[in-house]
Amino acid sequence: MLKAQLEKIRSITDFKPEIAIVLGSGLGEFAEKIKIHCTIHYSEIPDFPISTAPSHKGEFVFGEIEGKKVVLMQGRFHLYEGYTSKQIANPIRLMHLMGAKTLILTNASGGINTSFNPGDFMMITDHISCFVPSPLIGKNIDVLGTRFPDMSNAYDKELQKKIKKIALENNIKLQSGVYVQLKGPQFETPAEIKMLSAMGADAVGMSTATETIAAVHCSMKVCAISLITNYACGICDKTLSGEEVIAMADRVSDDFEKLITEIVKAI
Ligand code: HPA
Repeated sequence: MLKAQLEKIRSITDFKPEIAIVLGSGLGEFAEKIKIHCTIHYSEIPDFPISTAPSHKGEFVFGEIEGKKVVLMQGRFHLYEGYTSKQIANPIRLMHLMGAKTLILTNASGGINTSFNPGDFMMITDHISCFVPSPLIGKNIDVLGTRFPDMSNAYDKELQKKIKKIALENNIKLQSGVYVQLKGPQFETPAEIKMLSAMGADAVGMSTATETIAAVHCSMKVCAISLITNYACGICDKTLSGEEVIAMADRVSDDFEKLITEIVKAI
């Protein structure tokens, strides 16, 4: 399947990205700000999932940021759309086969850590993925990676140092912490957030850890930036909505663009 998909991409473009970027909920507009070489809609690729989540456009955008060749996923896949973890891993593996050595993941999340506020960015230092199925379940694809990949440095330490420095230099407030992925699509209950907090999670969302695991398996360097769009359920009295997530992402888009551009520059 991966082979046929790569052949299809190669029949359209020979562009070889060094960096892959996944744009999270409400953050997809960044793709319109880069120097675009070409775009490929997911429907053009054989056996490829289609984005159904709100604000997820559903295409690969090939282009340049500060002279660096990148491929952006404008629209990712989630378990709550009915896709399997393996399907979610598919585009990550494909971008690896296109040539990408580094993966920048972005997402929207709810802040569990009470020192976080909506509008803050959180650099993910580690994740809790045990509530979602691994994308590596099933026969191992040995050409991609080992059966039992080590996860002790899933988020690249050197990149984390660089990202901290970038945020400081550009006056962008950056928290750091542990991200927990749940299946969704319903937001969590207050009891679930209490449990997640006790487990050591700082922010909660419905993506990313699955993609990180797939990327680490095929030896990509990974970093991830989460936008805290809301207090997680029960942290304050407010009820949650998907619209609120997108609205917050819109509000901080300038800082988000700056942060990602500088990270790409520093890689
Ligand atoms: N929970 C889960 N996913 C999310 C949240 C949340 O509070 N905010 C944005 N994505």
